[in-house]
Order: sequence, then structure tokens, then C-alpha cells
Amino acid sequence: MRILITGGAGYIGTHTAINLLENGNDLEIIDSFINSYPAAIKRLNYLKNILKIDSKFNIHNGDLRNQKFLEKIFSDSKKSNNPIEAVIHLAGLKSVGDSIRFPEKYWDFNVNGSINLFKVMEKYECRNIVFSSSATIYKYQGKEVLLDENSVIEPTNPYGQTKAEIEKILQDINKENVNKWRISILRYFNPIGAHSSGLIGEDPFGEPNNLFPAIIKVSSNQTRELKIFGYDWPTIDGTAVRDYIHVMDLAKAHYLALLKLMEFESKLLILNIGTGIGTSVLDLVNTFKSINKCDIPYSFTERRKGDFPYVVADNKMAEKILNWKPRNTIEDMCIDGWNWIKKNPSGYPK
Ligand SMILES: NC(=O)c1ccc[n+]([C@@H]2O[C@H](COP(=O)([O-])OP(=O)(O)OC[C@H]3O[C@@H](n4cnc5c(N)ncnc54)[C@H](O)[C@@H]3O)[C@@H](O)[C@H]2O)c1
Repeated sequence: MRILITGGAGYIGTHTAINLLENGNDLEIIDSFINSYPAAIKRLNYLKNILKIDSKFNIHNGDLRNQKFLEKIFSDSKKSNNPIEAVIHLAGLKSVGDSIRFPEKYWDFNVNGSINLFKVMEKYECRNIVFSSSATIYKYQGKEVLLDENSVIEPTNPYGQTKAEIEKILQDINKENVNKWRISILRYFNPIGAHSSGLIGEDPFGEPNNLFPAIIKVSSNQTRELKIFGYDWPTIDGTAVRDYIHVMDLAKAHYLALLKLMEFESKLLILNIGTGIGTSVLDLVNTFKSINKCDIPYSFTERRKGDFPYVVADNKMAEKILNWKPRNTIEDMCIDGWNWIKKNPSGYPK
């Protein structure tokens, strides 16, 4: 299949791309590099060659909000008699904190960019899409309650609101069902880790907002100590509990979701992609330390506004419908994350 990946140079994009290539798909990758590096694409190509993968990809440097740019990619692929059949839509801005500071930027990039993409897809009759949503859209349900796909949606920050809005647009596109779209919305929990080769991984711009990249920075002596937000949450050890999933397990779910969609004439498939296992901040830090035999100095600080104590997926629906099971343990995630940073102490070559 010829698949377009938006945001394909990013953390999840590169890992999803290698999985799709390994499964024999040719790719068109779009990225504006607003939050990623061209070197990630070079590495992707290098990894593809090492793994002796024959499938090919092209990279298109541009912004989703530029409709002409998008149209050219679809029209060129149509002319080549090998049109783009499906889109994996990952491009977007993802920092909760930045979204509170710059809400209009988040609405513009995430929502306007997505609308543009859907319009061009409709024009070129490419109506198969997997969209990366987030567990951030859910309302906190209480202590140790797993979130399923029917849990209340009530995002508390502009980032989450843009994801919920894009979901609504996709649901509207599906509701009319005139043009027979196949749509999968994947609600990711917390992807961490890296490809086991250590050639691709997460390389955030500036200060990391998420726990795992922050641990990695401390483990490689780039930051002196880890700040843990909150020590008095109503959890097993007072630190916040999340559902960490290996990025390669998440990557695989995209392709399986796409294959599942293709079994139907028209479909809307909404799935949580997590492991169903809760891990506290201290659990993750201690596992990382012991398995990688390194030190992670940390200190406690105030809770972050808008954080919740417990965000864990009920992932039964994805397991059943996709016949998918996350394979990697927290230990595997820590080993692969450490391998990535040891091989690339400053991330991708800049
Ligand atoms: N990483 C997570 O913890 C997480 C959790 C839930 C959902 N998500 C979602 O998954 C998607 C991928 O996340 P990621 O962690 O790989 O982020 P990332 O920032 O590494 O990747 C996103 C990519 O999209 C590109 N991009 C952004 N806006 C663009 C635009 N308008 N046009 C073209 N390219 C653009 C960026 O340059 C970047 O390469 C995002 O939509 C994010 O919201 C991520």
C-alpha cells in the first residue's frame, strides 16, 4: 500500500514509518521540522538499509496548513498511477504547557492543519485515515479507574481540546457516510522507549515536558536532577501513575488499525492504545536505574496544574479488535531508551 504519514520525522512518526516499511508499504512522509530534525529522516533511511527493507519513502518538507503543498503530493501520486491509499496523521504540536501559553497557535496548527488535510483527502478520494489522538482528552475518572473508550471526554487544556475537536470533525465526516470514509482514532497513552537499534528515538526540542525524556537527560548527565511533580497524590507511593507503552508496540498498532479498517466498506474505529498497566513515577525511575545500572538523582516539587494522579487505559478493545498485544515490558522500554541515549548523547546530529 502507498501510505502518507504526516509528522513522519517526529518521535512516533519515525518508529511508525519503519514498521510500515518493514510491512512492505511505500511511504510519502510530510514534515515541516517544526519539532524534529532532518537527521531523523537520514537515520530512518540508514535503518531501512541496515534492515534490508526494499520499500521506499519520499520526504516532503512542508506544512499541513499549506493546501497547495498537500495537493501537489496527492496529485503527483495520482499521476504516477500509484495513488496514496491511506493517511496516518501524526503531525501536530503536543506540549500541554505551550498550548496553555499559545492556544491560538495550537488551534491553528492542529485543527486547521487537520481540516486542510481532510479536504485534500476528500478531493483526491483518499478516504482512509488513522489519526493520533491522546488520553489527555479524557476526564479524570478517579483513583484506579481504567479509562475505556466510552469514558467522559473533557480535556482540561488547549492541546487536549484540539485533539477532541479533530476527533469530532472526523466523527462528523463519518456520520454523513456519503463518501464512505474509513477512520481510526487511536488514543495514545504514554509512548516511551526507542527502536532497539538505537538509531531512532525521542529527541525533544528544549526542555522535555514528559517524564521519560527527562529521565534520559539526567541519566546522561545533561540535567543534574529529575524534578518529580507531586509526592502526595493518592497513589501507591504518592507519585503520579501513568500507562507507559513501548513506542514500537504503538507503531505496530497503526498498521493493524489500517488493515482492520480495510476490511470494511466504511468504518469509525476508536481505540485506546496503552498496556492497561499503571506505573508510578518512582517505579519508572527505579526500574530505569536498576536495569541500566545508572544514577537518577531526583527531588520532589509541587504538583503541576492540570495533572491527574492516575491515567491508565482499559485496552481490551484494541487487543480484541486488532488482535494486538503490547509485547514490551517497562524494563524493555528502559533498556531501549538508555541504548538510544548512550549511542546518541546529544540526540540526532544537529
Ligand atoms: N508523544 C506522546 O506522548 C503523545 C501522546 C499522545 C498523542 N501524541 C500525538 O502523536 C503525534 C506524534 O507525536 P510525537 O511524540 O511523535 O511528536 P513529535 O513532535 O515528535 O512529532 C510530530 C511531528 O509533526 C511535525 N509537525 C507539526 N506540525 C506540523 C505541520 N503543521 N505540518 C507538518 N508537520 C508538522 C513536527 O515537526 C514533528 O516532526 C502528535 O499528534 C501528538 O499530539 C503524542
